[in-house]
Amino acid sequence: MKIIENNGVFILETENTHYCIAINSEGTPEHLHWGRKCADEDYRSVYKSHERNSNHSAKDLGKTEYLPFGGTVYRPVAFKATYPDRCREAVLTYKDFNISEVDGAFTLELILEDKPYKAEVSLFYKLRENTDIIERYAVIRNNSDRSITLHKVASGEFNLPSLRPYTSTNFNGSWGGEFRKVNSVVRNGALTYESTKGGSNHTVNPCFILSENADEKKGDVFFGALAWTGNFKTEISRDFAGRTRVVIGINDFDFSYTLHPGEEFTAPSVFCGYANGFAEMSNAMNAFAIEYILPKRYAKEPLPVLYNSWEATGFNVTSAGQQKIAELAAEIGCELFVMDDGWFGSRLNDHAGLGDWNVNRFKFPRGLKPLIDKVKGLGMRFGLWFEPEMVNPNSNLFRAHPDWAYHYDTRKASLLRHQLVLNLTRDDVKEFVFSCMDNMLCEYDISYIKWDMNRAYSETGAENLENPQELWYRHVKAVYEIADRLKAKHPDLQIECCASGGGRVDLGALSHFDMVWTSDNTDPLDRLTIQQGFSLIYPIKCMRAWVTDTNRGSRPSDWDFRFNVTMQGSLSIGGDLTKYTKKELKIHKDYIRLYKEIRNTVQFGRFYRLANFEEDRLFATQYVDDEQSVLFFCTKANSFFNDNFHHIKLQGLDENAKYTVSYDKTKEIYGGAYLMNVGLSFETWGTLQSKIIRIIKNK
Ligand code: DGJ
Repeated sequence: MKIIENNGVFILETENTHYCIAINSEGTPEHLHWGRKCADEDYRSVYKSHERNSNHSAKDLGKTEYLPFGGTVYRPVAFKATYPDRCREAVLTYKDFNISEVDGAFTLELILEDKPYKAEVSLFYKLRENTDIIERYAVIRNNSDRSITLHKVASGEFNLPSLRPYTSTNFNGSWGGEFRKVNSVVRNGALTYESTKGGSNHTVNPCFILSENADEKKGDVFFGALAWTGNFKTEISRDFAGRTRVVIGINDFDFSYTLHPGEEFTAPSVFCGYANGFAEMSNAMNAFAIEYILPKRYAKEPLPVLYNSWEATGFNVTSAGQQKIAELAAEIGCELFVMDDGWFGSRLNDHAGLGDWNVNRFKFPRGLKPLIDKVKGLGMRFGLWFEPEMVNPNSNLFRAHPDWAYHYDTRKASLLRHQLVLNLTRDDVKEFVFSCMDNMLCEYDISYIKWDMNRAYSETGAENLENPQELWYRHVKAVYEIADRLKAKHPDLQIECCASGGGRVDLGALSHFDMVWTSDNTDPLDRLTIQQGFSLIYPIKCMRAWVTDTNRGSRPSDWDFRFNVTMQGSLSIGGDLTKYTKKELKIHKDYIRLYKEIRNTVQFGRFYRLANFEEDRLFATQYVDDEQSVLFFCTKANSFFNDNFHHIKLQGLDENAKYTVSYDKTKEIYGGAYLMNVGLSFETWGTLQSKIIRIIKNK
């Protein structure tokens, strides 16, 4: 890893890749290369400043690193501002650079300036040891004595090398159907993925994955994931010459930010990389998140097997009822007991109570202590659900402070799930939200919070702000700040990020929360698709997955299938254990024991998607570390007569080592080379079949 500067050419060298930029004759940072390494001396500016004709400007054709709006620019830009004299165009020219090293990471800062307005834009590129992931972000500084209004501040602009159309992978998700992967070929125009809901949302995700002739094992894959849990916009465009570019960052939708004299604005980071095939991308991002993104305290510890009450008891939580479930949860091996919605205020259903974070004395006459003592006595830790950013109009909080929710005096507030969003850009509201959770953490032995968020914003009046359009940005920062403060004051606290399931899955959330609730949909077959999409770019260990009852609308499947799907992430239990037979509890206990034996491999190992339903009749994933490998496979149904034969070649093993392969009470020894080149054959019968195959490396 190194950064070289040679006559205005910057070469950023990661483990296996180069990212190169030149300052061209116009003083513009010009993109030269991103991908596999080439000889340093071959990198030079190719920029020709002449216009091709009056319709296709040189600026439009250029390979820019951070294009401002201004002059003859007619394509998606990275930066747009209004200056004090009402000039709405920016010209950013190169001023200087810095290369620094802090804690083993190298950072290049390219400083650009808009001289007449004393505005500066610094582009940062941060490289770390043993990874090809580069962190990019931009900082805008106002060195003048008048305010500048920012309208768009992307985190990064990217140029892709091939002139052939790339395939863009993102999602067409929904509540209960997150991460449904969709591939779109970007032939012309622009493909935009965005959120305008306030959070990063269920539908599309703040990442880009652009590939050329790629599959799991090979092919060019360029990717980036934005660390932002709010409105975002990713614009992937392809011009008539075939050039594909990406601009990614905070959404400019209803956004502006007033940069006062002497202030700076930092756009969130985008973590980007080049990989040979999708598996390499996922593994690079997985390892990077564990090493550099997740909050440090628990980043390298396996997540506990938790029990969550939501599907079993809904809002009907009581001290006695939860204690009864807790006993069974402990018996089957759960390590953490999380009480979900319903424990506070007048929360009998979702019509009331949000905002009143005091224990409901009807349900818990002696507070939470008896329950928590019980849970702790059973050897588990205790966790509690909050939805801290929200308020029900039917709550004491709203009756006392109706102005604390985002609103316009002249507009009727739109309710979603009977609730409103609190204006976290107000210091008093932010303090209140912090203290509600802090008070509970101080009073009780609570070591886990499930932080939920169940609606999109509306009527986003924020008259407390000089510039109300900053609310989209400031709200997200407030969420991060509260989570960080809680963790600073309660260092052993773990926080799960939830937004009606997976509505807030992004690297910003994962920099402040320890994991996410992946989806409210716990149907195992649906889950396979959801988990497959999640695994593309987000860390496996953060993917919370529950085994639940079959009677909540999901299709019938046996416990093996449910566990085999769920154990592919962070195993959790969510069914009504009080209704289970002894035999069913034993099945739970056995699987939890098995999961504890394999969870290090699942949560931290290398990961391979070996087969999926779209292309194979089988779904299979494999996890590998130095000790063992675990293979999960699941089938839907044998669609045709004789459609029951399956064959899987493994990946990532040591070809010279011997492995003991065990499943269905058989144990056989094979060489790593055999397992990868020849593979394993199976037959399955019936619908929704599954297996776990453990492959232990012989000593
Ligand atoms: C939505 C979450 O996704 C669920 O897991 C549950 O916590 C409910 N909210 C509670 O209201």
